[in-house]
Amino acid sequence: MVAMFRVWLAVLVISSAAGAAVPSPGRGYVAPEDCEWTAAGSLGSSSVALTCTVRTINGVFDSTNFSLIQPQNTVSLKVKCENVLFESALANNSFHHLKELRSLHVEYCKLKEIPLKAFWGLNELTNLTVRTYNSDWGEIFLKVIPGSLSPLQKLARLDLSRNNMPALTPSLLCALPNLQHLNLSHNDFSEVVNLGFAATNRTPCPVHVQHLDLTTNRLKVLTDHGFSALRHLRTLTLRSNRFPEPRIRRCLA
Ligand SMILES: *[C@@H]1O[C@H](CO)[C@@H](O)[C@H](O)[C@H]1NC(C)=O
Ligand SMILES: *[C@@H]1O[C@H](CO)[C@@H](O)[C@H](O)[C@H]1NC(C)=O
Ligand SMILES: *[C@@H]1O[C@H](CO)[C@@H](O)[C@H](O)[C@H]1NC(C)=O
Ligand SMILES: *[C@@H]1O[C@H](CO)[C@@H](O)[C@H](O)[C@H]1NC(C)=O
Repeated sequence: MVAMFRVWLAVLVISSAAGAAVPSPGRGYVAPEDCEWTAAGSLGSSSVALTCTVRTINGVFDSTNFSLIQPQNTVSLKVKCENVLFESALANNSFHHLKELRSLHVEYCKLKEIPLKAFWGLNELTNLTVRTYNSDWGEIFLKVIPGSLSPLQKLARLDLSRNNMPALTPSLLCALPNLQHLNLSHNDFSEVVNLGFAATNRTPCPVHVQHLDLTTNRLKVLTDHGFSALRHLRTLTLRSNRFPEPRIRRCLA
């Protein structure tokens, strides 16, 4: 019904005390109507961080076309959904034109799935956060389609917290050689094996994660080889799970 991203044609006035000498952040930057931008990065860089607030992403009343976001200088994009009642849906190739994007943050959008080609083209991305808060709305959980993260070769931080996820595909993180920080807190993992980090013949690759946050899940038992694919693991956070043994609870306290 309503096109969420109408191009804002007003001329953006940049105030810069130093005048022409300093390349102003965001000079000539045109943000879609639902978005606000701020300068990102160091003084003198023209990088822009964009925050867009939409009702839903491709929900029943909205069609969301991210192609209206200009690729030049957009290094960071935050998308926040306002409507918690209606589902959102991420389309394939949603962001493929945003070649300079380093950080993508999608929050409060009631997504059921990250489709195979959702993140195609995001070759420079280092930080990805998708927090649906699905657990606040009951039955829905996020399904990350196998292969959907593979284009993100430079990804260093992945935050999939608050998605009500019961399981991950074992090979999901195999193709990510630079991934160091993984946040899976506030999900619905009840067995270590469901995390997909046991090195078996289905996961022939090492996972490079060094810091794993599993706070607030439903884990009860730590199995012997449950984390064996995580050969570089340095910190594991397990607070607020359901370990019955007082010994482990003391250890985590
Ligand atoms: C989004 O907009 C672009 C350019 O205006 C157009 O080529 C593309 O088909 C649109 N995508 C969708 C899903 O509407
Ligand atoms: C995304 O693309 C894959 C492969 O081309 C296709 O199987 C899938 O149905 C698509 N998903 C969406 C949400 O369009
Ligand atoms: C990625 O996240 C880390 C930690 O939150 C932050 O320090 C860093 O600046 C982020 N990088 C980008 C490109 O946004
Ligand atoms: C992981 O995500 C949770 C909830 O979204 C957040 O509170 C926590 O600080 C994150 N953990 C790390 C290590 O960044």
